[in-house]
Amino acid sequence: QQITILNGPNLNLLGQREPEIYGAETLDDVAMRCAALGEELNLETILRQSNHEGALIDWIHEARQTAAGIIINPGAFTHTSIAILDALNTFEGPVIEVHISNVHRRESFRHHSYVSLRADGVLAGFGVQGYELALRRMAHLLGT
Ligand code: DQA
Repeated sequence: QQITILNGPNLNLLGQREPEIYGAETLDDVAMRCAALGEELNLETILRQSNHEGALIDWIHEARQTAAGIIINPGAFTHTSIAILDALNTFEGPVIEVHISNVHRRESFRHHSYVSLRADGVLAGFGVQGYELALRRMAHLLGT
């Protein structure tokens, strides 16, 4: 079974971007860690990133045909995008929301998430390890 791991704006700069908040690892590192763990869990992972809301929405639609579950870090779209929420609401499998930082310890505008209205679970503040924890949860939910 396939898991789509979607990443929103500015996450292409992971490793360079505010490392005191988001850490030193890059999104490529995350993709490799997830692929390795996925192999163990019998899940094929596809990690994608876009700075564009519409691209993320198109990938969510694509996942309706191809993926058993979605792990998503929508970046700042978390706090603004009803369109991403609506797209996720068309997806039937499990959805897990990941934030590298603990958004609840940060500015109040990061405390509200539209995506959480759909997510089956939310991980925040576990660093990039959150993606792997989400993948383990996915395996549990999908019974792999
Ligand atoms: C983030 C938290 C968001 O508030 C922020 O806009 C991001 C990254 C995180 O992973 O901690 O871009 O989703």
